[in-house]
Amino acid sequence: MNIMLFGAPGAGKGTQAKFIIDRYGIPQISTGDILRAAVKEGTPMGLEAKQFMEAGKLVPDSTIIGIIKERLSMDDCKKGFILDGFPRTLAQAEALEVLMKEMGIKLDKVISLNVPDELIVGRVTGRRVCKDCGASFHVEFNPSKVEGVCDLCGGELIQRKDDTAETVTKRLSEYHAQTAPLFDFYMERGILADLDGTKDIDEITKEIFNILG
Ligand code: AP5
Ligand code: MG
Ligand code: ZN
Repeated sequence: MNIMLFGAPGAGKGTQAKFIIDRYGIPQISTGDILRAAVKEGTPMGLEAKQFMEAGKLVPDSTIIGIIKERLSMDDCKKGFILDGFPRTLAQAEALEVLMKEMGIKLDKVISLNVPDELIVGRVTGRRVCKDCGASFHVEFNPSKVEGVCDLCGGELIQRKDDTAETVTKRLSEYHAQTAPLFDFYMERGILADLDGTKDIDEITKEIFNILG
């Protein structure tokens, strides 16, 4: 099963991905997480990406497509995968189609989490993420059992550098200009499921499981 989670910054892609991993045993491929790891390690790709990420801009397509090519060729993707935060531009979506065709696989479902802009800033600025496993929590909407500690792995919870009100506004405008058009792209292919991302986390998970079967 090859699926993609689609939605604005803070729509709940990362949150839902963790439940899908648990149930279906397929890996989450978050280009954001891969880039943050590269920034932390200080690799040349990380150094390049850092400037874009901190400015709330998209990282160039060529870098992202290179990351995905390498990641999808790994063994753990053979039984399926969850794309989170990729593709984000038409060029990325087209490159993914070419790549998957070459690999003899296809995208089975695109799950869109629809959340209005007014709710996004509060979600993103109150988010806390695990330093070790990347799980997302929220100080108000989804608090961890112990403050500052990840429920899943015990790692330390931190705030992402790009989770400020100022940067999220820029990320949202990039989303509307470059990523939102992919909604129609996948609708035309008949694989898009449009979900209300403002519902409770558990309820959305149930709807996703219903769709995936
Ligand atoms: P990335 O890491 O992908 O960030 P994003 O798309 O901005 O998405 P987020 O991770 O912010 O949101 P999410 O949907 O995962 O929300 P979450 O589940 O955490 O990308 C970061 C940067 O990397 C980009 O800006 C860009 O520079 C670069 N990049 C990455 N991929 C790229 C690509 N393909 N091309 C070019 N550049 C790329 O939830 C958010 C918060 O809300 C949490 O606190 C959570 O607890 C809470 N929450 C979740 N669901 C609910 C709910 N139902 N109700 C209430 N609260 C909820
Ligand atoms: Mg995320
Ligand atoms: Zn963790």
